[in-house]
Amino acid sequence: MPLSFEFTARKLVYGGEALGHYQGRVVLVPRALPGERLEVEEALTAKGVIHARPLRILEAAPERVEPPCPYFGRCGGCQYQHLRPELQSAAKRETLRETLRRIGHIGTATWDAEIPVYAAHPWNYRNQAQLKVALQPDGKVRLGFFEAESHRLVPIDACLILSPRLNAILAELRRPDWSERLAGVAPFSEIELLADDRDEEVSITLRGSFDRARAFDDQGWSGLAEECLRLLPGVTSVAIERGRAFRVFGKPALSYAVGDFRYQVSHGSFFQASRFLLPELVTAATSGGVDAAPANRDALALDLFAGVGLFTLPLARGFGQVIAVESNPRSAADLAANAQAHGLSNVRAVRQSAFDFLRRFARAEPDLAVLDPPRAGVGMPALKLLAGVRPQRIHYVSCHPPTLARDLAYLVERGYRLESVELFDFFPQTFHIESLARLTVT
Ligand SMILES: C[S@@+](CC[C@H](N)C(=O)[O-])C[C@H]1O[C@@H](n2cnc3c(N)ncnc32)[C@H](O)[C@@H]1O
Repeated sequence: MPLSFEFTARKLVYGGEALGHYQGRVVLVPRALPGERLEVEEALTAKGVIHARPLRILEAAPERVEPPCPYFGRCGGCQYQHLRPELQSAAKRETLRETLRRIGHIGTATWDAEIPVYAAHPWNYRNQAQLKVALQPDGKVRLGFFEAESHRLVPIDACLILSPRLNAILAELRRPDWSERLAGVAPFSEIELLADDRDEEVSITLRGSFDRARAFDDQGWSGLAEECLRLLPGVTSVAIERGRAFRVFGKPALSYAVGDFRYQVSHGSFFQASRFLLPELVTAATSGGVDAAPANRDALALDLFAGVGLFTLPLARGFGQVIAVESNPRSAADLAANAQAHGLSNVRAVRQSAFDFLRRFARAEPDLAVLDPPRAGVGMPALKLLAGVRPQRIHYVSCHPPTLARDLAYLVERGYRLESVELFDFFPQTFHIESLARLTVT
């Protein structure tokens, strides 16, 4: 018999749960709000922390709203639909500040400025989706998203945070004839969609654990790809991904415009997943200091973790030279092509890990280093090398506050001063926090 008890939520924590206590132990409960009393049931206890599920709300917070999505609570995509969007941003700001304080020891003594929040439109903002595919015992294919912390599929008809175009494609793929097409060709496990900035053209990547012996030029693949191009609204490029190889049909890549620049994004390359706030993030991450002086011939900017060059191209306008480093071969190829397509001869695109690049980098004191690592953060080995190179300013774009806090603590210890932290609420309804920290050398 699972333990059930009364729970009072104290605060929201990174991950989306509300934290409280029961008999001296920490309790985490999803879909609860600070100040609320709930009856909850223990789901799992790990490392002394009770993870409980809400059974009944005994006293609701005034901030609570009815979640508009019928899948909320089952689908693992959203955590905050029960909280008004403007309060979600405020809660994330508090979470970010608390994380910087707790893990980074960045608090009142070193830095206590406001964290400005840029809020995106709360719905239909995602330009990307990773639809999960499950083949049922009846031979039919179901599409949807996973439950939180699980590989159990929640079949989905529509998703309120996906762009209209992606929802139109999802609606089409839910038709029975598509179930037959997908089931007939291969055991796909995921369909990835990326829509362009106008939400008109879409690229699709189909992936799964395919039989390695199966020829890449098999008629089945091309037949399915042709049908995707012909029947799915807006789809202009289709790829079958097998291991590290891609077979592409239709246009070779998607073209995505942000500000003055247009980026080629190939299948398998990284691109930001929100349609809104991208120009604001790019401006904030690439501006300040030398950019005021027109093309200072000596000024050098490093763009580590550069992707397809989202920040590289605007940086090349304000700096004499930009060295952009990206380890993923497909993103790195797009990066080089994007710089070339814009005639930016002052960009050097380097296909390497940030660590390997910094190990051999001889020039001291670049004017700016833009860092935009994955969730794991920059990490100590590369960060030590970077601190030795001593960029005059660092702009750190982060999608994961705990690793940001860890890395900032190290940079502060190595003589950097934290100037500002801004929060870009790219992903309303979810717990995700995207932020930009700016530092200068002291
Ligand atoms: C969060 S994305 C940012 C990309 C780009 N700045 C943007 O905003 O579109 C992180 C990028 O870092 C790349 N990456 C991951 N580990 C890396 C490493 N150790 N060295 C260099 N690049 C890496 C990934 O392939 C990805 O393109």
